[in-house]
Amino acid sequence: MNIVEIIQKKRDGQTLSAAELRYTVDGYLSGAVADYQAAAFCMAVWFNGMDDDELSAFTQAMRLSGDTLDLSPLGVTADKHSTGGVADTVTLIALPVAAACGCRIAKMSGRGLGFTGGTLDKLESIPGFRTRLSEKEFFDTVEKFGFSVIGQSEKLAPADKKFYALRDVTATVDSVPLIASSIMSKKLACGADALVLDVKTGNGAFMKTPEAARKLAEVLTRIGRLAGKRVTALVTDMNRPLGTAVGNAVEAAEAFEILGGKTPPHSRLERLSLRIASEMILLSGKAASEREAAAAAEAALRDGRALKTFAAVIEAQGGDPEAAVNPKRLPQAAFRLTVCARESGFVNAVNTEEIGRAAMALGAGRLRKEDGIDAAAGLRFYPEIGSRIEKGEPIAELFASDRSLPAQAAVRVEKAVIVGEEPVVPPPLIYEKEETT
Ligand code: URA
Ligand code: CA
Repeated sequence: MNIVEIIQKKRDGQTLSAAELRYTVDGYLSGAVADYQAAAFCMAVWFNGMDDDELSAFTQAMRLSGDTLDLSPLGVTADKHSTGGVADTVTLIALPVAAACGCRIAKMSGRGLGFTGGTLDKLESIPGFRTRLSEKEFFDTVEKFGFSVIGQSEKLAPADKKFYALRDVTATVDSVPLIASSIMSKKLACGADALVLDVKTGNGAFMKTPEAARKLAEVLTRIGRLAGKRVTALVTDMNRPLGTAVGNAVEAAEAFEILGGKTPPHSRLERLSLRIASEMILLSGKAASEREAAAAAEAALRDGRALKTFAAVIEAQGGDPEAAVNPKRLPQAAFRLTVCARESGFVNAVNTEEIGRAAMALGAGRLRKEDGIDAAAGLRFYPEIGSRIEKGEPIAELFASDRSLPAQAAVRVEKAVIVGEEPVVPPPLIYEKEETT
């Protein structure tokens, strides 16, 4: 096979065979295909797209480029994935809820990079919590309590890692077939039978418009279906942080508050978490209808079973289960600052990305993947789009371990709230659902 001919075929709008796509992926990983050739290939895909057979073959080639997990001993397993958002603590709520309803979730998760947080960092803020388990510990925890979360293997879809780094510097990230195959190569390598995808849209998301997000959701579900999986994708709003907490210990604390019934019910974060849990329950065959799945999820949250499940998993993974009921057991920041509204009016918009960046500036995130993070750092942000705020009213609380950081971050938070004289209609939480059929 010849990479120049493969690039030329794709450039001219022809369809590549599975063997040609495997050759491209394997060749790029081994070095037989050069960076400039892989870049030309990505650009040709950017212009000409991929059909279903190409999407499947390209995704499978990247999936099989590294470690894959065999979850078959666990029976039917479920997983979820979010394309990334701010204050997106859904995993820490939806997993214990779904597990308490009989789902089995053996999840490999990643660390945060950029302005969105990683589930692994949030879990590691719980004192003692281990995210490196032997396969036996991992499977035993799932069998006993319904879920477990461990760190992603370094060798998960290495071809995708190499392609992604290349796309980042060749203006080829924003291609739906390339994004969808990238995401699905990793999710399929993780081995679950049923997958719920949360595709974010809005000013704090990768996909800025609902139309673009819907297109991605459609291709993601199609790849999953072609791989024989049950997949549901929701397109959900990221025009403001999803919950109130942005950071690591603060996000874990917010998950525990919601699971413990300590927050007003039906917040956006609670509603989306319950919806994602109920989609997992439905796909796992643990409920006969959407309505039944939703009722089961709601009951498991309200009666405290989900929180108990979470505490049991924390203990099984070496963490302090008391942290689930007593937030003082989580890391506490030495310095706090309350941010107040600079003017009165209706919240017309929130610069979501800026709130994420403010949390990073407080020490909650990492700029490079080798960087450490400050588990206690972060913020709470309260304004809802469409609601009225008065000058001087507290709109956020900032947490940091360094005295100088909160004042700098406060400026970003203040500027991120766009106030107007007229009320606006808040965006919907869930725009739509794509299902495999
Ligand atoms: N996330 C991924 O994993 N891959 C992409 O290409 C884009 C976002
Ligand atoms: Ca299985």
